[in-house]
Amino acid sequence: MQAAKIIADPEFRIAEIDPRIYGSFIEHLGRAVYGGIYEPGHPTADDMGFRRDVLEIVRELRTPIVRYPGGNFVSGYNWRDGVGPKAQRPRRLDLAWRTLETNEVGTDEFCEWARRAGTEVNMAVNLGTAGIDEARSLVEYCNHPGGSLYSDMRIANGYAEPHKIKTWCLGNEMDGPWQMGHKTADEYGRLAAETALSMKWVDPTIELVACGSSHRQMPTFGQWEATVLDHVYEYVDYLSLHQYYRKKDDDLGTFLGQTIQMDDFIRSVASICDYVRAKKHLKKQLYLSFDEWNVWYQNPSDHEIMKNQPWQIAPPLFEKPYTHEDALVVGLMLITLLRNADRVKIACIAQLVNTIAPITTVTGSGAWRQATFYPLMHASRYGRGMVLNLQVRSPEYANKTFDSIPLLDAVAVLDEEREEMTVFAVNRGQDNPLPLEGDLRATGGYRVVEHTVLEHADPLAHNTLERPNEVVPHNRGDARLEQGQLSASLPPMSWNVIRLAKAQG
Ligand code: AHR
Repeated sequence: MQAAKIIADPEFRIAEIDPRIYGSFIEHLGRAVYGGIYEPGHPTADDMGFRRDVLEIVRELRTPIVRYPGGNFVSGYNWRDGVGPKAQRPRRLDLAWRTLETNEVGTDEFCEWARRAGTEVNMAVNLGTAGIDEARSLVEYCNHPGGSLYSDMRIANGYAEPHKIKTWCLGNEMDGPWQMGHKTADEYGRLAAETALSMKWVDPTIELVACGSSHRQMPTFGQWEATVLDHVYEYVDYLSLHQYYRKKDDDLGTFLGQTIQMDDFIRSVASICDYVRAKKHLKKQLYLSFDEWNVWYQNPSDHEIMKNQPWQIAPPLFEKPYTHEDALVVGLMLITLLRNADRVKIACIAQLVNTIAPITTVTGSGAWRQATFYPLMHASRYGRGMVLNLQVRSPEYANKTFDSIPLLDAVAVLDEEREEMTVFAVNRGQDNPLPLEGDLRATGGYRVVEHTVLEHADPLAHNTLERPNEVVPHNRGDARLEQGQLSASLPPMSWNVIRLAKAQG
């Protein structure tokens, strides 16, 4: 097998990584909140009803930010329903997921959960059925120190200190006809601009994310971004992207190759931002928030629950187990996000617990890590610092979707302070190990700390409550570094984390 080659030069840099690129998402959807992060009757429940076992697993991910409360849910959500004495909170019909919402968990509880999880909140406001007034009131409730209607309401509800939420989303997927209060690009752009102004008048330190397209295949993709940005460019800081992948027609080669499109998607949206900047003669650069991404399969039971079953509280939705091959795609998506760290400053895997998630629970019982948990944890732990402009030359394969898909995808991150470099690499090849040769210039004094590998003979292998360690990484990778020259053999269908550090003494 021909070797894949990489060159990493510490002088050739893409950008400093914004840690929020390792963000996640909790929506009031399925068992993400109720039965996921919150289950008062659970043996591990803390004083507020949060599952401690879940909190511990979440902390392993070192997730810096979690988007909340939706998703499609936010487009019908009245945040006032979810604050104040729990006994007085209304039960509502959530039209997004045809679910009964008890409002037991709302803004204050979620902010408290985030503190306990060691993460920040990325708060979305309702621009579907609500608008400027609700959004600016929520900023006041969360961030104003006191002495006004909503800040005093928060204090009366037991939160003397403001929640200090920095990152806010101006609605969710407003281009999608499935969205409550779905809008045209002009309608949304006008509303988002006016809402942004009012929110920043309440707290000028916040950062705002405007909605881009729901995914790249939307018929309005491109035009939506350009029109929305015409309205909001001056008032916002980020534009959102969403994308989910799944294996279709049992075509694993295409499934593993789809991140080529993700790269193109990011570059296209960045170009549209730059086009609007040029047109408006502005200096300010807009950044991207890839605030929903993952592999997502829907089960027939999901549609049955949402179409035919009676309205339920927290029914199980979108809980298909994640396989080894899904974990590789998650790894490839992380590599793609990192490679684009000059523009992508926020990214949220959707979601975190139970619903489309790397962590799964059984109500009243245990919790476990899905196969997709591991690439996310590795990237979040070791992918901090500067992304290098890695040169990759790899053997390729072709299929009916793509003319050429490199067997290797890889990215290198340099942590200058700690004098560490990490190479994240996926061998997409299904049958053979891939020899890797690396010219890691200026790392002459470095040594291999560990070469972690996620591999499995069965691409469909997955973890369960009974077998939580079916797909787990090992540290038996064979990477060697001699005078700045790296060599390794990457097993077929594997996620690799090669950690290098300056040798002591
Ligand atoms: O993450 C699940 C759903 O996917 C979100 O609610 C929505 O924004 C997207 O379509």
